[in-house]
Amino acid sequence: MNKIRIDFPSLNQTNRNKPLIYLDSAATSLTPNQVIQSELEYYEKYRGSVHRSVYELGEKATNAFENSRKRVAKFIGASEKSIVFTKSATESINLIAESWGYDNLSKDDIVLLTDMEHHSNIIPWQMICKKTGAKIKYLKSTNDGTISIEEFRKALNKNVKMVSITHASNVFGTINPVKEFINLAHKNDSKIMLDGCQAIPHMKINVEELGCDFYAFSGHKMLGPTGVGVLYGKERLLEKMEPYQTGGGIIRTVTMESSTWTSIPHKFEPGTPMIGQVIALSPAIDYLENCLNNHDNKLMDYAIEKMNSINGISIYGNAAERTPILSFNIKGVHSLDLAHFLDFEGITIRSGHHCCQPLMQALDISACARASFYFYNTIDEVDFLVEKINRAIKVIK
Ligand SMILES: Cc1ncc(COP(=O)(O)O)c(C=O)c1O
Repeated sequence: MNKIRIDFPSLNQTNRNKPLIYLDSAATSLTPNQVIQSELEYYEKYRGSVHRSVYELGEKATNAFENSRKRVAKFIGASEKSIVFTKSATESINLIAESWGYDNLSKDDIVLLTDMEHHSNIIPWQMICKKTGAKIKYLKSTNDGTISIEEFRKALNKNVKMVSITHASNVFGTINPVKEFINLAHKNDSKIMLDGCQAIPHMKINVEELGCDFYAFSGHKMLGPTGVGVLYGKERLLEKMEPYQTGGGIIRTVTMESSTWTSIPHKFEPGTPMIGQVIALSPAIDYLENCLNNHDNKLMDYAIEKMNSINGISIYGNAAERTPILSFNIKGVHSLDLAHFLDFEGITIRSGHHCCQPLMQALDISACARASFYFYNTIDEVDFLVEKINRAIKVIK
């Protein structure tokens, strides 16, 4: 553990002059030195544009950029051509909603979502449904924060053209039974996209084994830099889709009247991309692969037990398969007051709707607190959190 923690310079920082206890990795993870150095190296040693420069530095940058694509592809069991770099998972989902949705959705079609989706996996569908006349239908989560496979089966009908569902919830932590969902969606001739933001930092994913049509995630939640996201799409689907944004770098020909596109994946990457961020995603994956063990789970079991001992606590979600996220409220203590109190103890937790307002409505709450853990967190940090929450209750109530 000490060896790992040394790699993360943020863990040596203070928050409000107290040693940092970072419990907000579900929002954005910390970054190891290897990733920071990799991005720095691009700026210091081979700054140049990619895919268009004949000079040595540009060639080096292009190689590093494309090697990162190879690394991502290998990491998730996909082909290089099926990996599109975006600036975030949000952009990846917008790309699918717009590019796939515009040509494949029409009046009476249904996009099936769940009530535990992040706004990033709701609003892009609302926008494309407005344009195409399609409708959104929501599956309701159960009291333990899961989606019933039976309800999922029942919701499918010939009008469901797309299922877009989170692989793991950013509020409940629930890991959804996506393999079953994918099989059922395909039996129904629906396409299925997974929002992998909260799953990929914690588990090994193989998109080809899963069989999903699209998979979206962000680099910054899995030790990588901010400003880089990934969209995996089945090659034959990506090939048929029009680009979502256009500009330089994605064309085969341009005349004054019209343009034709280059092949996938570059067809979906217009403009100068996020070169340094993409390059530094590769060492993030190297690091993550070495740390994907069950430390998270042990810490989470411990945290759940300790947190359950707090008077007046309600924990949201109780799925058997979950990521290390604990969302909760404490009777008589607003989550924002709690987050402020903990902030002054050096502890960073999140408070609010977590970009899940529909889920907050379903839970009949306006907000909750969320502590999220990662492999660099310790049992001592959990103990400190619980001690300070108990203190907060005494001070705030
Ligand atoms: C489940 C889920 N989906 C989508 C997103 C959006 O990710 P980003 O802001 O990196 O685009 C997040 C981020 O919190 C998330 O947790």
